[in-house]
Amino acid sequence: MADDINKDNLLEHISDIVNKYSESLKNTKDLASLNRLEISTLGRKSELTTILKQIKDLKDPQEKKAVGQQANFAKKSIEDLILKRRDSIKSDYLAGVESKEKIDVTIPGRRIETGHIHPITQMTQLCEDIFMRMGFDVCYPYAIDDDFHNFEAVNIPPNHPARDSWDTFWTEDDQIAITHTSSMQNRILTSSQPPIRVIVPGRCFRNEATDARHEHTFTQIEGVYVDKGINLTHMLGVLKEFFSKFYEREVDVKFTPDYFPFVEPGGMMSLSCILCNGKGCSVCKKTGWLEILGCGMIHPKVLEMANIDSNTYSGFAWGFGVERLIMLKYDINDIRYFYSGNLDFLKQF
Ligand code: DAH
Repeated sequence: MADDINKDNLLEHISDIVNKYSESLKNTKDLASLNRLEISTLGRKSELTTILKQIKDLKDPQEKKAVGQQANFAKKSIEDLILKRRDSIKSDYLAGVESKEKIDVTIPGRRIETGHIHPITQMTQLCEDIFMRMGFDVCYPYAIDDDFHNFEAVNIPPNHPARDSWDTFWTEDDQIAITHTSSMQNRILTSSQPPIRVIVPGRCFRNEATDARHEHTFTQIEGVYVDKGINLTHMLGVLKEFFSKFYEREVDVKFTPDYFPFVEPGGMMSLSCILCNGKGCSVCKKTGWLEILGCGMIHPKVLEMANIDSNTYSGFAWGFGVERLIMLKYDINDIRYFYSGNLDFLKQF
């Protein structure tokens, strides 16, 4: 072996090592493999270290010097290359992190799927949208209110027989779980100037047995419209427009007299049956019409109780149940589904 050790061999070997190393360095993509390469090239067992050890076996001091210089030069240049490569790997890594983890505060938040909006809320929002586009404001009722607002202010004095129409939940201190969203009429009329256009979507409560068409808890939308020269035809026009939008088809409406203490004349408004288009089916009991809401011209007493001059102004009001509207829209035959917590039902919306 010792015979092979001569200056030319060693110099050639050194330049091979530098070439080989520079080549491998280019393919080193991360710090861990760079460290491994460094050890194998410069470490104690590396070829370069072996060469440095072999220098002492050269006889000629000039040759020793030449090879020694060359070997140290090679070592130094390899070390420099390592430093540069290490820096560039680091800065590549940081640039990657920066572009991947950059925070754009203007991107909208990610939605976490925790369920979906209840059909009653969805449809209430749809009703609000339609009425708002027609110029109505929206206000919400108090769930618990007093006798004055739920009854007296809408012309149902204490002991009036009409109170029996609203099976009422009373609290121990004589407050009321509102029986209808008409409970907001007086506040609306006293707090604004005509023209007044407001709807009141809200949850109502009745102390009565439940069946396929009645729930103790349900949702109503009250509407109030007051201005000069308002009459029944305005009301029918507004409601016809609303229902045509809600059911996405042209509907007909008709008014049939009925009694509600807060309206005069008062009545029921019917809709041409949206299931059979008025031809007559089992849902409309072959009449072609569906009774859908109570309404009428606001009773002068109700206006006067809110300090509105009933000689100058007139208005109409209505109240309908949101569940009934949804039941017709989606052909649902039992109102109790809405609060049953039955996911198979709810997931359809
Ligand atoms: N408040 C009535 C109810 O719950 C519904 C109603 C009927 C409201 C006629 C009105 C109306 O504003 O004019 O049964």
